[in-house]
Amino acid sequence: MESKTLIEWSERYLMDTYARYPLCLVRGEGARVWDANGKEYLDFTSGHVVLALGHCHPRVVGTIREQAATLTSASNLFHTPPAIQLAKLLVAHSFADRVFFSNSGAEANEAAFKLARKYAKETFSSDRYEIIATRNSFHGRTLATVTATGQEKYWHGFEPLMPGFKHVPYNDLRAVERAIDNRTAAILVEPIQGEGGVVVPDDGYLPGLRKLCDEAGVLLILDEIQTGMGRTGTLWAYQHSGVEPDIMTLAKALANGIPIGATLATAAVAAAFTRGSHGSTFGGNPFAAAVALTTLTTLLEGKLPERAGRIGRDLMSRLEALKPTRPVIRQIRGKGLLIGIELSVPAGPVIAECRKQGLLVLPAGDDVVRLAPSLTVEESQVERALAILDSALAKAAP
Ligand SMILES: Cc1ncc(COP(=O)(O)O)c(C=O)c1O
Repeated sequence: MESKTLIEWSERYLMDTYARYPLCLVRGEGARVWDANGKEYLDFTSGHVVLALGHCHPRVVGTIREQAATLTSASNLFHTPPAIQLAKLLVAHSFADRVFFSNSGAEANEAAFKLARKYAKETFSSDRYEIIATRNSFHGRTLATVTATGQEKYWHGFEPLMPGFKHVPYNDLRAVERAIDNRTAAILVEPIQGEGGVVVPDDGYLPGLRKLCDEAGVLLILDEIQTGMGRTGTLWAYQHSGVEPDIMTLAKALANGIPIGATLATAAVAAAFTRGSHGSTFGGNPFAAAVALTTLTTLLEGKLPERAGRIGRDLMSRLEALKPTRPVIRQIRGKGLLIGIELSVPAGPVIAECRKQGLLVLPAGDDVVRLAPSLTVEESQVERALAILDSALAKAAP
């Protein structure tokens, strides 16, 4: 069926919550996708920063087939091997001792908020429930996660928001220090703000937050939903900083596009979740957990985080080199294969021109073009993407 008809039906039958591009994707392979009219695109969105291994990676496809024919679902009142093995692998490769599985980033963050509140109340006092988050952050669209999200545009129409959250400027340790009081349970940050414009904090920011948290008995929650799974050049972005969180949330790339979320914590913090504290019907189901296990194993075996770091560094320096001839570029930011190009003009027309020339990229805010290809992207594909970007930027009026 043609794109035109499908898009008409999409506009008629789906709730109108997304400003969708006029493109209907039907098939993918590695870093390439095809639309319903058969046109090929280079996919530097990787399904909204989800497909660490690219579209239809053979090992992922193999696990999907195998697990679909073995066991897809079981009540969480039973043990199932994939969730156990996945939790064991996550623990072996992170700061964490325990894992809770859910189905999305928002749900992983909800679990983190509940865990932090319960830990703080049980450890300190019943008044200690507040979470300090940052301006310009993004943590999800449920009522609690949209409240944590430090961008007013996502709040309109949904007030009253949840109590117990406050916001401080990102990358500002003094502001956090001033905001901490005897009600503070946790500080919540993205190691790099993704949706907020690919904002990389100073090197001292996470260590500084860790120190403030330790001094005040406050938990450090890192939302690695976008930065995790090797995207920034290390398996978790916190590994660049030399410090570890108390809680970390994951989703997006964890099962290479199959829905899953995870909330990881130290033993001391995880102990606040006791039987009956929290739950999720689909959380940790054998299907998604098996795919995540394959995804994480493939990333580790292929040393793909290191590869992302190397390719990302090269891509960023080549983007820097475009600056003198493309004055619309204000700044290149990012780490590994999470890269933002801040422009002096709106990003929308540049993104549309890239699409016209066969390259899919994402916005991050109004004036940032975000590049987030899969970690398996080929160097020749990076080359082609750069040429298209250069041409699209040349067309953008300063
Ligand atoms: C840092 C971060 N946290 C949370 C979320 C929400 O994840 P989900 O859309 O799976 O609920 C996102 C999604 O973009 C994200 O980038």
